[in-house]
Amino acid sequence: IKQINSPRSNTQRHGKTRKMLQANNTLRCVSVRILPLDVKQRAESLLRECDGGSIGSYTESSGIAKIKHCVSQFITRRDGGVPSSPDNIFIKSGSQTIMLKLLISGKDLCQTGVLIPVPTYASFTLALEEQGAAIIPYHLCEEQGWTLQVEELRKALHTGRKTCNPVALYICNPGNPTGHIQSRKSIEEVIRFAAEERLFILADEVYQSCVYGDDTEFYSYKKVLSEMGSTICSTVELASFNSVSKGFMGECGLRGGYMELVNLDPAVKEYASRLFSTRSCPPVVGQIALDLMAGPPKPGDPSFPTFSEEVQAIKNTICKNTGRIQEVFAELPGISCQPLKAGFFVFPCLHFSLKKRQMEPDMLYCLRLLEETGLHVRPGCEYGQRKDSHHIRFNIMEDALQRLKTFHTPFMKEFS
Ligand SMILES: Cc1ncc(COP(=O)(O)O)c(C=O)c1O
Repeated sequence: IKQINSPRSNTQRHGKTRKMLQANNTLRCVSVRILPLDVKQRAESLLRECDGGSIGSYTESSGIAKIKHCVSQFITRRDGGVPSSPDNIFIKSGSQTIMLKLLISGKDLCQTGVLIPVPTYASFTLALEEQGAAIIPYHLCEEQGWTLQVEELRKALHTGRKTCNPVALYICNPGNPTGHIQSRKSIEEVIRFAAEERLFILADEVYQSCVYGDDTEFYSYKKVLSEMGSTICSTVELASFNSVSKGFMGECGLRGGYMELVNLDPAVKEYASRLFSTRSCPPVVGQIALDLMAGPPKPGDPSFPTFSEEVQAIKNTICKNTGRIQEVFAELPGISCQPLKAGFFVFPCLHFSLKKRQMEPDMLYCLRLLEETGLHVRPGCEYGQRKDSHHIRFNIMEDALQRLKTFHTPFMKEFS
């Protein structure tokens, strides 16, 4: 732009550059002109919160105060009025490891244990291992739509106590890779169990806005906890997570998420804040994305029609794909799949075995699928599965479904 305006610009030498710049300049002018007023105002008000009006500045290590406030309002709206305080919100770059640092003390003689579901989101298990925690697996019940059963939790805890000191219970709701969602009753049972056993609940709720089906509803652990008896609701400690990586934003590269702490002893919360401040602030662009997720355009805002159109288009595609997935898996031989209720993935079970085993059957399936169709799905062994059961984690995309359909039947014939 400087070049265009400069009297010394050399049209011959910079002809091409100049044309490009002119085109860019035109684009810029057009986009500035059509930027809805509320978008401009939102950008300006967020920039005012940044030192020097720049997103290149450091912020508070737990996040920009205005954005924490926006997040706490979002939580209150989501939970039908249950209060949320910005003081309990910690904005993060997306990972939960700082919380693990708080819970997993290296000083105990006995290793700190965390109960985690099988199957589960693999990176969480790796993060726990990296922090030196002992993993206590509890199995979700596949036959009943990957439900979480308290009896299974009890059994797992009992076994875990023989080798480590269990302090926390990790829940992934809605589930990755299982596509399940917990009912309110199931959440109440889990909270009661955590209260009895004095376990800290880590509720990973990053898929909370991806819920399908008319009879399916997302209940946050925070909301259910707040509506339980007075002792339980004021004593069970909870950290709940959400992120811009999932939902309709899907902005995983921007790295924005938050954790809300509930019922923490003030001294522990103080310690958690200090732990946070040992790290620099989360990326400012990620924080801004979080602000947009927590406070999207409202009816009457000039940008609302564009926003709602886009969200509706995404919802329509997802609904179409979820329906197709159930149909296709029901038709294919040697594969069964629990209903997809929420999240982005399903975890179908493959029914075949290998006579001569050079590798896990699900790994072989995934490798052959990749070689023959270019489609990359992940084997169940990476997420955990019951002995002698084999799964794949599959994401709900039409194109992927078509490729899997062509590959699957000949593969199954070869191994049946
Ligand atoms: C259940 C679950 N929790 C957390 C994450 C990580 O999210 P983030 O990008 O915010 O670190 C993922 C990513 O796939 C996930 O599936």
